[in-house]
Amino acid sequence: MSPAPAVQIMPPEKPVPMVSAPQQQPPLAPEPETPFKVEVQDLNVYFRANHAIRHVTLGVKPQTVLAVIGPSGCGKSTFIRALNRMHDLVPGARVEGRVFVDGEDLYARGIDPVLLRRRVGMVFQRPNPFPTMSIYENVAAGLTLNGIGGNHAEIVEHCLRQAALWDEVKDRLRHAGTSLSGGQQQRLCIARALAVEPEVLLMDEPASALDPIATAKIEELIHELKEKYTIVIVTHSMQQAARVSDNTAFFYLGELIEMGPTAQIFTNPRERRTEDYVTGKFG
Ligand SMILES: Nc1ncnc2c1ncn2[C@@H]1O[C@H](COP(=O)(O)OP(=O)(O)OP(=O)(O)O)[C@@H](O)[C@H]1O
Ligand SMILES: [Mg+2]
Repeated sequence: MSPAPAVQIMPPEKPVPMVSAPQQQPPLAPEPETPFKVEVQDLNVYFRANHAIRHVTLGVKPQTVLAVIGPSGCGKSTFIRALNRMHDLVPGARVEGRVFVDGEDLYARGIDPVLLRRRVGMVFQRPNPFPTMSIYENVAAGLTLNGIGGNHAEIVEHCLRQAALWDEVKDRLRHAGTSLSGGQQQRLCIARALAVEPEVLLMDEPASALDPIATAKIEELIHELKEKYTIVIVTHSMQQAARVSDNTAFFYLGELIEMGPTAQIFTNPRERRTEDYVTGKFG
């Protein structure tokens, strides 16, 4: 008698269902593939006649960091904004293609952008604290908007600590968010994004207004957040991309030229244009 197979694909007693059309057999040993947390298929973004993002297809695995790099104007911000439907309200902007989070199409009918942005949080290139709100209210804003209960004071403190801002603001939480310096405002916006515990965090040059100490803290934070979140970060700093990301996507003139493990993109890119950019020949 031959030994029993280690894995039984089909229980033999199970009656075979009647089917009207022949069905394909599933592969005997399917590869254990982690599904993408974020998957983009043939994404195009237009601002009137300007075709700003061209046929971009890529996937981001859960609990990884994707760095998006490329010269100014190549579409980095436009790309990540499409991942939480920020173009919905831009007059003349049109998005084609599909973006999935956990297999759910963000651009399908019936998707509530407010709920979506709770799952896919965003930190913008320019800090944008709510102008009429205090530091505390800025961080708590998403909790209030989404009707999230719990101890808001504790959550606010926790998020401000994560964003490396707590010590600087703990004695003036009731002051206006806009009274902070540019770099502090950026960290405030990071705290605000974290408060609702998004699954995916989009960061558009989060460190561009920060000094080296705050930048290092934010990079540390990205490492911590990766345990739980999936992160897409736009950066102009190759060093930052190398420090924080697992994979890097190089964009040029609205196209995704190349994407791969960060070390490979920086040391052994497949495309000439990537090599020219990462070696500083243009950009
Ligand atoms: N709201 C908008 N309305 C019209 N055109 C826009 C808008 N946002 C971006 N664009 C255009 O889309 C293209 C890509 O811009 P985007 O801001 O995505 O570039 P970027 O790679 O983020 O550049 P940078 O590194 O300077 O931030 C540019 O041609 C820009 O003019
Ligand atoms: Mg940008």
